[in-house]
Amino acid sequence: MDDLADVRDFYRDFADHEAKGESLTFERWAAGVAQDPEVLDLLSGLPVPKRQPNLVFAAARWHGAATPSDPDYADLRTVLLDEWPAVRETILARSTQTNEVGRCATLLPVLAGLEGPLALVEVGASAGLCLHPDRWSYRYVDPAGTEVARLDPAHGPSPVVLDCTVAGPAPLPPSLPQVVHRGGVDLNPLDLSSGDTADWLQTLVWPEHQDRRDRLAAACGVVADEPVDVIRGDLLTGLDEAVARARAAAPEATVVIFHSAVIAYLDEGGRDRWPGIVGAVVQQVRDDGGRAHWISNEGARVLPSVSASAACAQVGSDFCLALDGHAVGWTHGHGRHLSWC
Ligand SMILES: C[S@@+](CC[C@H](N)C(=O)[O-])C[C@H]1O[C@@H](n2cnc3c(N)ncnc32)[C@H](O)[C@@H]1O
Repeated sequence: MDDLADVRDFYRDFADHEAKGESLTFERWAAGVAQDPEVLDLLSGLPVPKRQPNLVFAAARWHGAATPSDPDYADLRTVLLDEWPAVRETILARSTQTNEVGRCATLLPVLAGLEGPLALVEVGASAGLCLHPDRWSYRYVDPAGTEVARLDPAHGPSPVVLDCTVAGPAPLPPSLPQVVHRGGVDLNPLDLSSGDTADWLQTLVWPEHQDRRDRLAAACGVVADEPVDVIRGDLLTGLDEAVARARAAAPEATVVIFHSAVIAYLDEGGRDRWPGIVGAVVQQVRDDGGRAHWISNEGARVLPSVSASAACAQVGSDFCLALDGHAVGWTHGHGRHLSWC
């Protein structure tokens, strides 16, 4: 395997597809890396999962790479070459655990359609921001920009307002669901009350996405001290325990196992096994007389059998949103829009 060539193609592809239209900084940085043998050589020495642009660029920013409005690859290059031992240490010590509260806007129509109250079990929960869908305000508009629904928590509007454009007959609910348990499993659950965690989560947000950084700060302010029961472990082996805890804490509630932007981190074997594992756990709860469902929100190629069940075409590079393995629509990766099939 030619490691150097792999990294080059990886960064070129990231510049042309993922960063284009979303972040001029990352588009220029990734295109610059793809043409820079010296930097490619450094990155090729990292373990494969650590070579991803999101992690490398966040680590470079952590160590001072500037992100002006007219971004310059030279800013990244200088930090990578001059500070490599420190940048490398950060890359190896941390991971891309971007916790995107905006995804709650695209999950909500599915969540709110389930019989409540809900016991949420999020696999790959990161800092757990998506475990609080009842604590945000939501504003849905149609593709022409006309507001079609506005929802607030039971105690009044939240400082965190999630804006989402909806196309198709999405079942927008009249009110937010009642959540009686918030738990899950993550390889590295993040503690929102730690300043270091909050700073790293901020650094993971792409430079131009100031609205997301503001929303993240506001969301951390709302729930930093709210308890969540996220177990440290691998989702392939830890789901049973997370669901058992939910059942014990809220025996009358509907267990909702959900995940967004997580299953891509598994290897191919893990991805193949996941629908069977989660399906068996859901069935076990039902056999025991309880209610349980599985909601997935993942890239189109991550769970191919789920994506193939969609009754409408994928929008751009949107995620596939599914209930119990059946696709119901397509969602922007940060929750900015939802296309219901
Ligand atoms: C990109 S973050 C997404 C966080 C959250 N789901 C969201 O939508 O904001 C992916 C998370 O999955 C976790 N993760 C990755 N592989 C995992 C595994 N095998 N078992 C448990 N958690 C995992 C990571 O630690 C990270 O917190």
